[in-house]
Amino acid sequence: MEHPKDFAKGLSIGIIMDGNGRWAKQRGLPRTAGHKKGAAVFQDIANYCEELGVSSVTFYAFSTENWKRPLEEVGAIMKLFAQYLIEGFDYKNRNIRIKFLGDRTALDPKLQKLMNELEEDSAAKTGMTLNIAVNYGGRPEIVRAARQLAQQVAEGTLKPEDITEEMMSDHMYTAGQKDPDFILRPSGEKRLSNFMLWQAAYAELVEMDVLWPDFTRDDLDAAITEFNKRSRRFGGI
Ligand code: IPE
Ligand code: IPE
Ligand code: MG
Repeated sequence: MEHPKDFAKGLSIGIIMDGNGRWAKQRGLPRTAGHKKGAAVFQDIANYCEELGVSSVTFYAFSTENWKRPLEEVGAIMKLFAQYLIEGFDYKNRNIRIKFLGDRTALDPKLQKLMNELEEDSAAKTGMTLNIAVNYGGRPEIVRAARQLAQQVAEGTLKPEDITEEMMSDHMYTAGQKDPDFILRPSGEKRLSNFMLWQAAYAELVEMDVLWPDFTRDDLDAAITEFNKRSRRFGGI
């Protein structure tokens, strides 16, 4: 039988890491315990994607809407970023290029510094691109692109009628990357929640009931297998 390994190569995947809170609640634990386990799963699945030969994977870690949560929870999540997503992840010895998507200017300057360093240190890597979406929203991303192009129009270097889809894509945080082939959402929710709105135009949506902190390499295999069964027509027949 074919293994997902045989067709994972070159794929671009988006992952909405969801269900941390429910996982903790099921165990009578504080929500932050779910985020902590979720961060560990993120590390393992990111490494597994690289092992599979995935070309790019985008993890949705914190949305522009997540600031609505209690201050204590937001603070705990930010602390986990520094700890797990950055300091605790052995990026240096792996052939992974790291990119953060979203408006980092709202984050702790120390965290911003770490993010900038990681991007710079890994910029020359030739393997998988690992995108981590932090303070990210698809709509703000599109507004940002529109503003950048409008600025060029205002300066007289661009004509409105010359704006193309490719130019818009090049002004997204994911500039130069392939659009996601599929977007995976665990925890049973069936919505994008402002994730990769521009890039998701023809992405397959794969939703799974497993909560993110319980998500395993086998679950990713299952998601890739499910994606591979889909018939992508891109408007054709
Ligand atoms: C996803 O898990 C993590 C973030 C959004 C930061 P949730 O915290 O949304 O978990 P549920 O949806 O409440 O279970
Ligand atoms: C989406 O999950 C954001 C992240 C996973 C970072 P949410 O749990 O915030 O989304 P909603 O509120 O269920 O739409
Ligand atoms: Mg959620």
